[in-house]
Order: sequence, then structure tokens, then C-alpha cells
Amino acid sequence: MTTQLDSLRKLSLVVADTGDIDAVARWKPQDATTNPSLVLASTEDPRSRRFVTEALERAKGDPLPAVDWLFVLFGAEILKHIPGRVSTEVDARLSFDEQGSIAKARQFIGLYEELGISKNRILIKLASTWEGIRAAQKLEREGIHCNMTLLFSFAQAVACAEAGVTLISPFVGRIYDFYKNQRKVNDISIEEDPGVASVVKIYNHYKKHAYPTQVMGASFRKTEQILALAGCDLLTIAPDLLNKLNSSSDPVERKLSPQAASQLQLQKIQLDEKAFRWEHNQDAMATDKLADGIRRFDADARKLEKLITSLAAATVPAK
Ligand code: E4P
Repeated sequence: MTTQLDSLRKLSLVVADTGDIDAVARWKPQDATTNPSLVLASTEDPRSRRFVTEALERAKGDPLPAVDWLFVLFGAEILKHIPGRVSTEVDARLSFDEQGSIAKARQFIGLYEELGISKNRILIKLASTWEGIRAAQKLEREGIHCNMTLLFSFAQAVACAEAGVTLISPFVGRIYDFYKNQRKVNDISIEEDPGVASVVKIYNHYKKHAYPTQVMGASFRKTEQILALAGCDLLTIAPDLLNKLNSSSDPVERKLSPQAASQLQLQKIQLDEKAFRWEHNQDAMATDKLADGIRRFDADARKLEKLITSLAAATVPAK
């Protein structure tokens, strides 16, 4: 039987959105994405404790560099199961620090290189703030490829394309969550889903104006959202939704294509810093969700630090 997942794979590059190595091994995606929340969830699983032990050993018991090593060791393990790229996210505390983000990205690439992994297999994930986008522009010039995350507004998408980044991850589910919450409803139909509409608008703009930046739909809550974006360059999907797509044999229809986008009348836009900040700020949902996303990734990264600090204290003998 041809599953929806098989059909989708013919239209979009399917990526696994998880820190669960077993899930990556099972689904054999082309690429994989992680974030601090996903790495935290995996680290809490006793099966992943060996990564924490190795991270602490490599960092000589120092908890903060051990957290960096943990992200890299997860990434390296994931790469054993996929032919493509893994995304590793820069600390959310650097979201408004261009130079700090550049330094952290170079550091990650250096750690991967210590493990014999080329930078071509890594996407550095940065928050799509003005500073994150500027950092990505500079990193791309030195051959470090970036995946721009926490992307909610059209202004963020335009600035990323103009900066020439490799890939963007516009979030669908968190936009849907925002409007569901605001409208006090349990669901929004797929035809009116504002998260799906956001990715459609961004995809058409990119293809119409031939930006090489790839669009990877992310943050899905239901399979209908994924199927409504069939044809998008990439779609990063959590294991429970991959499972659902694999259990259905309903047909999958292409929804997005460069040819259809080229027929649309869409104006090219350029945004300097002031215009970017103004346009992004005009979008209440995007302003709220970007700030919230940074806080959430930061909170989970701090939990990870605490976990590692307590394990370091338990394993390294006092001097
Ligand atoms: C992937 O790159 C994103 O971090 C992920 O899709 C976010 O998903 P969430 O909104 O379910 O946390």
C-alpha cells in the first residue's frame, strides 16, 4: 500500500523533528531538526544518558561546555541514521546578540569538526530576530549554513530571503495555537488555518522572486496542516504525525509549486532594519510568539544546564 507519507515524500523533502534517535532510525528521513526542548526531552530519557556522560567527559566535567557538547553529540548520532543535514540550535540567550551568535555557531561547527563531521551536514538554527538574521548572513558568507527558526511574520521571511540564508522554518502550529487561544475555539478549519496561510504566502513570495532560500514548514499540530503544504521544499514532522501519515493511504495532492507561484502578481519587498522592526511589530501574533518562543527555548536550555550540573556534581569527585 502507498501511504500518505510515501506520497508526500514525492512532493516534499520529509524531515524528522525530534531528538529521539530511535525515531530517526525508524523513519529514515533525509534531514532532521532538533531544538533545546526536544534535546531536553531526549536527555530525560535514561536511554540517552550515555550522551550526557560523554558530553561531561569531553568538557572535562565543566557543565556549560558540556551542554554544547550534548547538542553536538545528539546531532552526530542523528547523522549516523540520515544521509542529509541535522539542525543544531544556538542558545536562545544570544537571540539579540549578532556577534555572540556568530561565535556560538563557529564553536558548534568546530565541535562537529572534532568528530570528523563536515559543516555541510550541519544547519545552524538561529532565532529570526534582526540580530539572528544578520548573524546568519555573515555565517553563510563563510560557508556555515543556517536554518532560521521561530519565524512567524512575513517581515521575518522577507528579511531572511534578502539575507541569503539557506533555509527558513516558518512555524505553523504555534500560529494556529495563538489564534485558537485568541478566538477561544478548539479548532480552526484547514481552509482558514492562519499557520498554513502564512507558509503558503511565504512560499509563493520566495518562488515568485526566485529566492534560493528553502522553505521548511515546521511546528505541526495535525496531519491536515502538513498535507495542506504538500509541495513545500521541506516539511519537518514530529514522529507521532509521521506515524499517522504512514497509517493512511488516502491520496496526497500537490498544494504548492514554483509554477503556480510564478503566475501570481506579488511585489518584491526589501526591508531595512527600521522597516523590519516596524513591520514585524505590526503583527501582534508574531511579536508575541517570537518573544514566547525565545523564552521557552531559553527555559528548556536552562533546565538542561541544571540537569547536567547536577550530574556533573554527582560524577566528578570534589577537589
Ligand atoms: C523545528 O525546527 C521546530 O523547532 C519545531 O517544529 C517546533 O515545534 P513546536 O511548535 O511543536 O514546538
